[in-house]
Amino acid sequence: MPVTMHHFGALRDGTAVTAARLENSSGATATVIDYGATLQSLCVKDRGGRLVDVVLGYNDALQYESHGDYLGGTIGRVGNRIGGARFSLGGREYALAKNDGENHLHGGPMGFDRRMWSMCAEGDAVVCERLSPDGEEGYPGNLRVRVTYTLTEDNTLRIAYDADSDADTLFNPTNHSYFNLNGGGSAEGHWLQIFADRFCENDAATLPTGRLLPVEGTPFDFRAGKPVGADIGAQDEQLTRAGGYDHNFCLAGLRAAVLRGDKSGIEMTTYTDMPGIQLYTANFLSVRAGKGGSTMAPRGAVCLETQLYPNAMNCYGFPSPVLRAGRHMHSETVYAFACAE
Ligand code: BGC
Repeated sequence: MPVTMHHFGALRDGTAVTAARLENSSGATATVIDYGATLQSLCVKDRGGRLVDVVLGYNDALQYESHGDYLGGTIGRVGNRIGGARFSLGGREYALAKNDGENHLHGGPMGFDRRMWSMCAEGDAVVCERLSPDGEEGYPGNLRVRVTYTLTEDNTLRIAYDADSDADTLFNPTNHSYFNLNGGGSAEGHWLQIFADRFCENDAATLPTGRLLPVEGTPFDFRAGKPVGADIGAQDEQLTRAGGYDHNFCLAGLRAAVLRGDKSGIEMTTYTDMPGIQLYTANFLSVRAGKGGSTMAPRGAVCLETQLYPNAMNCYGFPSPVLRAGRHMHSETVYAFACAE
């Protein structure tokens, strides 16, 4: 179905924000705004045939600009943390903007989620593009980025990332949607399966140390599936430090995770060509009103951020986020929806 565009309010400086709505013939919709190339809403049918908005968000642009938490935003240049907010590449040291103590998180204080993108419809897809200039948040190279959202007839949201740079740089994008497949309430009852035998050990600042730990026999074992909250309160240093799950899982293949709303029956399977996925149980989400009278609260959603392993520039052997000058980067993440009976 054709993409429809509508006005979505304005930023503090008056910049108009536009929303693009994708719809398939069974009535599922996805709405993307050009502020942050953000997924603002994603409505799919529950087992009773009712449409449920399965991502947290706001109803106007100003709220996205005023609040943090990266709701539905496109994260870049590098998702998650870079320890010490520095890295060396090609014999040079680069200092990045700090926004998480001494560290760099989600591309910095003015990451991709806080920028205006140019947005257009291409057939039945929405394409967001921007040029991230050399030096932005400390990164080298002029980086041209394109994020394409497609909603298919079989209720799959596909997010494709494409990028090129004129100098060697880093690139590790993700989408920071907060999923609640029941449409609200605590997400601790959601059933979750993650296809990973190992996860990244974190230090006290939620930075991967470089060690990969086996999930076997730990609260991180989601291989057979269990409720998100089943072991979240366990006396495990990795969990207590982060106030819940906030860890990268090392994926074994393209199928990354299955999340199911215990009340709605909505089931979401995540596929990605990235080697990692951050499970973040919204531990630090501030309590406040969201769209449509909803309330956001800690543990009220699950983020499944597909990515290269975090802090890769400081951890020997982690897949590299380096994008070489003149090389093209393409990556896809797919969220496929179905309904459990
Ligand atoms: C990170 C958390 C961080 C959150 C901010 C997540 O992706 O892993 O540590 O607090 O984003 O919304």
